[in-house]
Formats: sequence, C-alpha cells, structure tokens
Amino acid sequence: MSLVVLEHPAEHVALLRLNRPEARNALSPELRAELRSHFLSLSEERAIRAIIVTGDRKAFAAGADIRSMVSIGPAEMMRRGDDLNWGAIRHCPKPVIAAVNGYALGGGCELAMHADIIVAGEGALFGQPEVKLGIMPGAGGTQRLARAVGRYRAMLMLLTGQPITAREAYEAGLVSKITPDEDTVPEAIAIARAIAAMPPLAVAEIKQVLHAGLDAPLDTALMLERRAAYLLFDSFDKREAMTAFLEKRSATFSGT
Ligand code: CAA
Repeated sequence: MSLVVLEHPAEHVALLRLNRPEARNALSPELRAELRSHFLSLSEERAIRAIIVTGDRKAFAAGADIRSMVSIGPAEMMRRGDDLNWGAIRHCPKPVIAAVNGYALGGGCELAMHADIIVAGEGALFGQPEVKLGIMPGAGGTQRLARAVGRYRAMLMLLTGQPITAREAYEAGLVSKITPDEDTVPEAIAIARAIAAMPPLAVAEIKQVLHAGLDAPLDTALMLERRAAYLLFDSFDKREAMTAFLEKRSATFSGT
C-alpha cells in the first residue's frame, strides 16, 4: 500500500493523501521519498495546476518518524539527504494547499508551512515539539514559523513545545482559512479549482514573486514584482482574459 496516495478530485487538481494512519502519518524516510517523487512529477505535469496535501482526520502529520531517528547520528541524518525531499516541495512551481486536520506537529507543521495556502479544520493543532525530544526543527520550523506568526509567539511555541489551536494559528497568520473538520478537504478542493481556473502563467509568477520578494529588500522585491507584471503582458492568456471581459464572455486559458 502506498504511503502517499495520489488522487485527482477535480480537473487540473492533484491531491496527495499521507497514508500512515497507524503512525499518525509520521514522516518516515520511505514516506518522504514517495512525497518527493510525487512532487517532482506533478511539478512537470502540464495538466496539473494546483496540488493539495492532506492527511486524515486524526493527523495531518505527527512529524518526523521518531522510531527511525532514535539511534542515528548526524552523519546518517546527512546521508538521508532530507533537504532533497523538502526541496521538491519548496521548488514546486504550482500552488500547494495544505488541508490540515488533527495534529500538524514537528515536520508535519513544517510540511504545512511548505504550502502556499493552509486550510485547517477547527480541531487542528499546530506545533513544533522537537525541543521535548532534545532536538530542534530542521526544515523551517524556526524560520518559517517566526515569519508567519512573529518571533515572540514562535519562540513560545518552540521553547515550550506546546501546540496552538487552528483558531490561534489563524489569528496569528499561520492559517489561511478555518473550516469545520469535515469541510477541510472539500474547501481545499474548492480553492484548488478556483486557482486552476486562473491563467497558469499569472498564477506561477504571483507565487514565485511573493516568495522571492519576501526575502529581498523591499525595493528589489518591488522591482521583481514590476518585471513579472510587465512580462505577463506578453502572454496569450492576458489578451484572452481582457478580451473576454470586454466581450462579456468567459475566457479559456491555455497557459501560454
Ligand atoms: N514518529 C513515530 N511514530 C509516531 C509518531 C512519530 N512522530 N507520532 C505518533 N506515532 C505513533 C505512536 O508511536 C503510536 O504507535 P503505536 O500504536 O505503535 O504505539 C501511534 O503513532 C499512535 O500514537 P499515539 O498513541 O501517541 O496517538 P495519540 O492520538 O494519543 O497522540 C500525538 C498523537 C499527540 C501526535 C502523539 O503521538 C505524539 O506526541 N507524537 C509525537 C509528535 C512529535 O514529537 N513530533 C515531532 C517529531 S520530530 C520532528 O518532526 C523534527 C524533525 O523533522 C527532525
């Protein structure tokens, strides 16, 4: 049985479902490798315009697999080359939506933070409990979390290991939208469909510029934004979208 199940819930939308319910979807090396290979192929698949990552109702993912880490040292951690796994998600050019129910802890919270949009069920819990295991986050749990919720809330979470609720995460800016638990995946699919209906080149540029710009000085980021905005004026889809608006008809986008 696959540790990551690929589904196609709507046209142009892929959904990756973590499938280790017996271990609260803990991210074993095998699961990470499957996730990586899905991201690499979906990144290249032209028909796919949005990717959803989800778990089950109990857990999005309870973090790295503690069983596989208990007796290994730094050399083995390096040999595992986990950054290549994260890199496949980080460099994915398509919008990624995390649909989170239950626990999103440690590497699970970091996985959610690799997404561009996070939809959370009301019962979801987000946390970085690594400190309790004598380690610390290694895939963005200090950096992305602090950028999302601010350094003081992040420090409280990181140093105590205590999780925050979906409501707290939403109010802190870590979650894009809260839903009843049963609506989390349908809502993520609705968002993915809305994105998939947009001109793909504009979607790709917005994603890339937002991420790159956040880590650059404002003037550089604004220049990057301007350049990308001008570049889109050369796309077929821009002409199609504006013409369709003026002709009062719906547009058909080709991604060119
Ligand atoms: N790794 C391995 N197995 C895990 C796991 C994990 N991260 N989380 C849960 N499991 C396993 C449990 O060992 C248990 O297995 P058995 O049935 O064989 O005993 C099974 O999943 C169910 O777990 P619980 O009985 O504990 O379920 P629960 O619903 O009572 O609690 C939980 C759920 C709060 C998530 C709890 O399991 C827990 O605290 N898990 C650990 C969370 C954690 O510390 N994550 C950080 C890992 S380190 C990391 O992520 C950093 C990094 O990248 C290097």
